[in-house]
Amino acid sequence: MGHPTLFIHSLVTSGGSTVADMALSSVLVLNGPNLNLLGQREPDVYGSETLNDHMDALRQRAQSLGLSVSDFQSNSESDLVSAVQSARGVHDAIILNAGAFTHYSWALHDAVRSFSGPVIEVHLSNPTAREEFRHVSVLSTVVKGSISGFGGNSYVLALEALQLIAR
Ligand code: DQA
Repeated sequence: MGHPTLFIHSLVTSGGSTVADMALSSVLVLNGPNLNLLGQREPDVYGSETLNDHMDALRQRAQSLGLSVSDFQSNSESDLVSAVQSARGVHDAIILNAGAFTHYSWALHDAVRSFSGPVIEVHLSNPTAREEFRHVSVLSTVVKGSISGFGGNSYVLALEALQLIAR
């Protein structure tokens, strides 16, 4: 017996992707450059927990929601673009913390645009409260929505948002 499947019936169009009658059972979580250093990197900004800690907490929440979660981290823009491309027809939604690529990767922007399910942009910190170069997200026009500033809970909130819009 597989997990129960939730269906998204909304016809909202967001950043080029239409969300219509979509099954939500499998979510891909992508983490970009330097997020492998969480726990060691700027703990005053990002906290002391590791990426594994955050992914474990997310997997636990996913289990309680009956969703399956896969996660992948890379420091390479090319790997992340390929991961978004490979998610087509495999995963129903993506939670994406693109790290610094958020602010300038038009390649990731285009890849996200080509994914038909909802993509939620996530940040541990609140980039708009930080340096000016972080105020721009080139992903914001192609994602369903963004969750920033809640540390590792940003990932859990993104999963809960997906579950809510699937109701
Ligand atoms: C980040 C914010 C980005 O500006 C930064 O480059 C990161 C992490 C966050 O999760 O707060 O690497 O995406």
